[in-house]
Amino acid sequence: MTLADLPFPSGWFVLARGADLRAGQVQPAQLAGRELVLFRGETGVAHALDAHCPHLGAHLGHGGVIREGVLVCPFHGFRFAPDGSCVGTGYGSKPPRSVGLTCHAVVETGGWVFAWFHPQAAPPSWHPPQLSMDEYTPVQCTLTELRTHPQETTENSVDLGHFAFVHGYRDMELHAFVTEGPHLHTRYTFVRPQGFPGLGRDLRVEISVHVWGLGFSFVDVVLPALGLHTRQYVLPTPVAPRLTALRLGMALRRAPEADWRLNAVPRWFFDGWVAGRAHRTYVEDVMQDREVWEHKIHVARPLLVDGDGPIGRYRAWCQQFYG
Ligand code: FES
Ligand SMILES: [Fe+2]
Repeated sequence: MTLADLPFPSGWFVLARGADLRAGQVQPAQLAGRELVLFRGETGVAHALDAHCPHLGAHLGHGGVIREGVLVCPFHGFRFAPDGSCVGTGYGSKPPRSVGLTCHAVVETGGWVFAWFHPQAAPPSWHPPQLSMDEYTPVQCTLTELRTHPQETTENSVDLGHFAFVHGYRDMELHAFVTEGPHLHTRYTFVRPQGFPGLGRDLRVEISVHVWGLGFSFVDVVLPALGLHTRQYVLPTPVAPRLTALRLGMALRRAPEADWRLNAVPRWFFDGWVAGRAHRTYVEDVMQDREVWEHKIHVARPLLVDGDGPIGRYRAWCQQFYG
């Protein structure tokens, strides 16, 4: 089975960082083979609509503007309310009734703007948790495109065997694996022999993974020896068959009992240099999987053996997103 045979899953998928979508801003977005227009009204609420104007087909994400709370098409000025209904033409005439753009549900959490996708256009059946980043450094984000599918990137979280082979971690121990509806939670520990730059080698790492559907994972990583906590976001958005826009976000915080080397550095240095270096290390680790992801096939009935981790249970949990 090729990756293209895995259909688009339902779920919440990131279209933008919240900070990159300012009030009154309009931008194009892609989700599951569809072109969307993403915008934030002057009141601060984000919306997503199908992108192409029903009049003569202009893309509202390329040149559309917000005027008096409605989205105005760049071609002839047709006007669309945030719910997608057409509320005016560019000529002052009345638009035909029942003309409009499909509206996609949007939520914001953790500083990200998510849109709901369902292959049969069913409304959202669940919502991700509201996350606050108050105690953290500003989230740094890297966006990359991968020839893969969100189920494959998310499977990394439970593929314990690859951590040693691809990433060089050792002493991997699984402590928990729980699923409840669209939420999957797992905890494990390992030792990172290569450590982190400036912070020593052979560091024990505690990982707590929360997966909400196949588009939204956050991973809380603790380095107990240093008192360093990080929040890592793994946000794969399927844009086309076999093409995923992967956003990797990361922020840090110092626990009260943090190592003196961490507590000694001033805030501006911690927020800038330390957080930046940690983010680059995180992205480098994830990118160690890139070549495998981009060339692997999807083995629907994998040959699982002891040491693999709970891949079978993960695959069973994934089924709900293809219903
Ligand atoms: S194409 Fe949008 S108003 Fe004509
Ligand atoms: Fe990996």
